[in-house]
Amino acid sequence: MVRYISDTLVTAVSDRTTVNLGCATGSTFEGVYNRLVKAHKQDDISFSGVRTFNLDEYLDISKDHPETYKNTMERLLFNHVDIPLYQQHFPPVDEHAEYNAYDEFIKAQGGIDIQLLGIGVNGHIAFNEPGTPFDSKTHKVKLSKSTRKANARFFDSMASVPEYAVTMGIRTIMNAKSIILAAGGKHKAKAIQQMVEGPIDESLPASVLRKHDDVTVVIDLAAAKHLRKGEKG
Ligand code: F6R
Repeated sequence: MVRYISDTLVTAVSDRTTVNLGCATGSTFEGVYNRLVKAHKQDDISFSGVRTFNLDEYLDISKDHPETYKNTMERLLFNHVDIPLYQQHFPPVDEHAEYNAYDEFIKAQGGIDIQLLGIGVNGHIAFNEPGTPFDSKTHKVKLSKSTRKANARFFDSMASVPEYAVTMGIRTIMNAKSIILAAGGKHKAKAIQQMVEGPIDESLPASVLRKHDDVTVVIDLAAAKHLRKGEKG
């Protein structure tokens, strides 16, 4: 999975002068960022033409906390490759910010060429929890209990997991020219099955991706275990 995605990204940055890349955080993409760092250091691949747009960021967290998505991206990728600081973008976190200005900003930069996406155990994409309108733009969210529980592994205790975040909306994601969704492990199998075979419905946010015409789903066997075998659909 990691090799397929990182090779796709290296090919894209080698073929084009600029690539607008939508970045996801979480465990699924750690290995991908790791391989991009290796590609830069060992194979001299330059990422100077990449503009990044992260999917989401926590709100009620100190800017110095190691688990903000900005600090995480710096630790995993930005501190080790040549993407200029002014080409690294995050949703606005200021409490007075017009969150959906991020959508306009992305549009003005030419839109997202490749959007990386993980999926939550409840079928969320970015922090668009079940029930989020399919036409949503970047907005503030209260994280669900299941998402806070899933992310508690990055914090000292459940109580220190942020409750609020700002996230690209579902429409923001659907505006990307191409999307790569990755998932590994049996805990993702139900969400993957519903995304692929269930109804396209706001109760399972990732199901909206079936309306997009350029989505690649990269999963391991454990995450694929509930999919119907040998049938087309
Ligand atoms: C993170 C994000 C989330 C994660 C999802 C899967 O930026 O938007 O939607 O992609 O929760 O997280 P992992 O990869 O940790 O299982």
